Order: sequence, then C-alpha cells, then structure tokens
Amino acid sequence: MTKLIALHQPVMREEVLKHLNVKPTRWYVDATFGRGGHTRQIINQGGKVVAFDFDTEAIKYGKSICSQLIQAGKLILVQANFDHLDQTLTNLKEKGIVDGVWGVLFDFGTSVDQLKSPTRGFSFEREAPLDMRMDLDLAVTAADLLKVLDQKQLAKLFFEYGGERQAKKIAQAIKSQPTPPETTTELAKLVSQVKGNKKGKLHPATKVFQALRIAVNTELENIQNALPQAFKQLEPGGTIITISFHEGEDRVVKRLFKDWKKANKGQLITKKPLTPKEKEVRLNPRSRSAKLRVFRKAR
Ligand SMILES: C[S@@+](CC[C@H](N)C(=O)[O-])C[C@H]1O[C@@H](n2cnc3c(N)ncnc32)[C@H](O)[C@@H]1O
Repeated sequence: MTKLIALHQPVMREEVLKHLNVKPTRWYVDATFGRGGHTRQIINQGGKVVAFDFDTEAIKYGKSICSQLIQAGKLILVQANFDHLDQTLTNLKEKGIVDGVWGVLFDFGTSVDQLKSPTRGFSFEREAPLDMRMDLDLAVTAADLLKVLDQKQLAKLFFEYGGERQAKKIAQAIKSQPTPPETTTELAKLVSQVKGNKKGKLHPATKVFQALRIAVNTELENIQNALPQAFKQLEPGGTIITISFHEGEDRVVKRLFKDWKKANKGQLITKKPLTPKEKEVRLNPRSRSAKLRVFRKAR
C-alpha cells in the first residue's frame, strides 16, 4: 500500500533553492525524488522537474500525490537509476519535451520512509529480513552478501564502505555462525556482541549497516557514473547540487568537482561544503551529517 503521508523532510531546502536559483518554466532534474520534498519546492518556484528514483514505492507515492503536476506538464517522474540520466534527458530533448536542463540536484542515500519501512531491512531498529535494496529489481540483498562473500571480503567491505575499525572481528563472527544472520536484529545483536554495547551516539551496528547498504545498491559507482552525465546535460551557467550523508559519497563528489574546476569547466561555488543550520538539525536530527556542495558550469 502506498503511504500518503511522507515521513521524510527535505534537507537544507533554503540552501538548495538559493543555489538552484529557479527560473520560471525552466527544467531542473531532481535525481533523487524520494518523497518529492525538493521537487515540489522547485515547482512551487515556477520550475519544471524531471525526477528520478529507482524505488518503486517512491515513484508510486509520487504518482499519487503529484498527479496534477504530472498532468499539467510540470513534472516527469522516471523510475530508473540516476545513472540513466544522460540517456533519459537526451530522449526527452529529442522528443522536444525538455528544452534544456538548468540545474540538477542529488540528495543521496535513503529516505526516512525507506529507513522506517517494516519490510525493507535498512534499520537495526526494526526486525525485518536483511534486504536493503532501494531498487527492488536488484538481484542481491544484504543477506546474500553475508552468505556469498568470504571473511576477508566482508571485512574489507565493512572497513572501506563503513569505516568500521572492528571490521575483521565482525566478519569473523559472522562467518563463524552456522548460517550468517538473515534479519536486521540478528545482525545488530551479533555486531553489538563483538563491539560491546558501549554508550555512545551511534548504535554499534551503524557502520556495518551503512557499508552493506552502499554495497547492495552500488551507491558510489552510481554517483561516479551519474555526475558526469548531469554535467553533460546541463546548460552553460547551470548548477549541480549534491547533498551527501557519509564520507564515501562526499569523497566522490569532491574529487569530481575538483577535476572539473582544474579543467576550467566551471566554478566551484562551495570551497567548503555547506552544512545545515543549528535550527534545522534540532528540528530534523537526520540532517546533522548533511554536506552540500555546488558546482556551476562555465557559460
Ligand atoms: C534522501 S532521499 C531523497 C529525498 C528527497 N530529496 C525528498 O525531499 O523527499 C534519496 C532517494 O534517492 C533514491 N536513490 C538513491 N540512489 C538512487 C539512484 N542511484 N538512482 C535513483 N534513485 C536513487 C532513493 O530511493 C531515495 O528515495
């Protein structure tokens, strides 16, 4: 059943709108529709949006709550990985539907609605099969990874994608079970046993869950592939905005933006990433790790 109330609050909306500088009737791309928070703000400012999400639930939700915007030709919803951005926009331009792209927004990661879903397996806080696929057409789940990867590969994954310092011990504990954990709570319990339930800000399993989610959804490869496509599709003077929530994502963006600047392809608007204001973090604690970067294509 599609939920009609979104739990997700769009992050850093003022900063996004300021830097997109939306002009009426121009087209923008929201590469990560989620619950459509940013998309609807762009449209409220008079812009038109092509929005991507590879999660069936997000697109179903969007079709139900944005049907009037779709009918009015202000929103095109595309159920696809954002690494299809170039192909999709080229098609829309060839058909004369989109006449140019003036800004592209990437708000990476999962929506709160995905995290809180009782069935998707993203959170250690609720019992669910260890799935973690944002795109339900993907073949491999987090539980599959725990089964097919060997101890060394798992340790590498936890360390490289999660920055987990006890990666080796955790991988060893998983592989020494008769069968690896198949649910969120089984995995969370095992990791907590290995690390000890120390009092701290983060749940002991946070980094392991993050690492598995990144691997299941090939998140870093998707970003690496999609950003150059977004740049290619942008009009001169157009803007790319990214919002990252962990080091891995931010590193890929930072490196690409730096390369583009060196190659005189445009201007790095944010020398240092912008972070949310205190008030936003208070109202929406999930925003606390957000880092926003902006690149403007040369005219
Ligand atoms: C943080 S949420 C976006 C929230 C949105 N800005 C809002 O205000 O509601 C990220 C969304 O991007 C989607 N997503 C993540 N990686 C994607 C990819 N490679 N291709 C398409 N969608 C992706 C997820 O399914 C999720 O719905």
